[in-house]
Amino acid sequence: MHHVKIIRCATPEEVGKRAADMYTALLQEKPACLLGLATGSTPLPLYRELVKRCEAGELDFSRVRSANLDEYKGLSGDHPQSYRYFMNTNLFDHINIDKARTIVPDGLTSDVEAMCEAYEEKIEEWGGIDLQLLGIGHDGHIGFNEPCDTFVGKTHEVELEELTREANKRFFNSIDEVPTAAYTMGIGTVMSARKVLLVATGKDKAEIVKKSFFGPVTPMVPASILQFHPDVTVIADEAALSLID
Ligand code: F6R
Repeated sequence: MHHVKIIRCATPEEVGKRAADMYTALLQEKPACLLGLATGSTPLPLYRELVKRCEAGELDFSRVRSANLDEYKGLSGDHPQSYRYFMNTNLFDHINIDKARTIVPDGLTSDVEAMCEAYEEKIEEWGGIDLQLLGIGHDGHIGFNEPCDTFVGKTHEVELEELTREANKRFFNSIDEVPTAAYTMGIGTVMSARKVLLVATGKDKAEIVKKSFFGPVTPMVPASILQFHPDVTVIADEAALSLID
C-alpha cells in the first residue's frame, strides 16, 4: 500500500490552480511529455487555468502529446457531447497544442478491437503516460471503468451503468440520447501512468473519496486500485474531503 498525497483546497478554483502547478512543473521538466486527460465538470477549473497560463506565456504545449481516458460509443468528434469535442472546446482550441498529437478513443470505430489495441500501442509508442488526470464517479468509476467483478486492464468497450447515464444526462436533451456504451482506457492503462492526479470537488463526492482511498481495494470501487499506485496525488476541495480528517 502506498501513501496517497492529499492536497486540501478551499474552493474548486483553488483545486484548478494547485493542479495546474503540477502541469507547470511537469512541462518544465519534460516539455515533450504525454498527458493522460479527462473530461467532466471537475477538471474545468484546471483547464481554464492551463489556458490562462498558456496565454500568459507561462506554459508551452507545442511538444506535448495527450491521450484521453474515454469516449462515448456512437458519437463523432463533432457531436457537442462527444469527449473529443469537449477537449477541443475546453482546452485544445485555446492552447498551443498540435491536435494531431492528441488522441481520444474513436467513438465511431467499426473495429472495436483494432481501435482499442491501436490506442494502447500509440500510448506506448509515445513513451507512456507521464501524468494521468482523473475525476471520480459517484460509484467510484475512473474513466468509464465501472464497478465490476474484476479490474479490466486495457482499453476496451463498456456498457454504461444507469447511475452514470443519469449523472451525465444533464448534458443531453433526454436520458434516451445518452449513449449506452463507451470506450475507456483500462485500469491497467491508468495504473501504468508514472503519476496520477485525481481531482474531486463537492460534497456529493465525499463518500466515494473516503471509500476509494481509505476502504478496501476492490473492483467494486474501481478508484480504490489507486491505493496500489506508487505516485498518486488527490487534489480536492473541503467538501469532497469532508469525511476525511
Ligand atoms: C471523464 C471520465 C469520468 C469522470 C467522472 C466524474 O473523462 O472519465 O470518469 O471523471 O464521471 O465526472 P465529473 O467531474 O463531471 O463529476
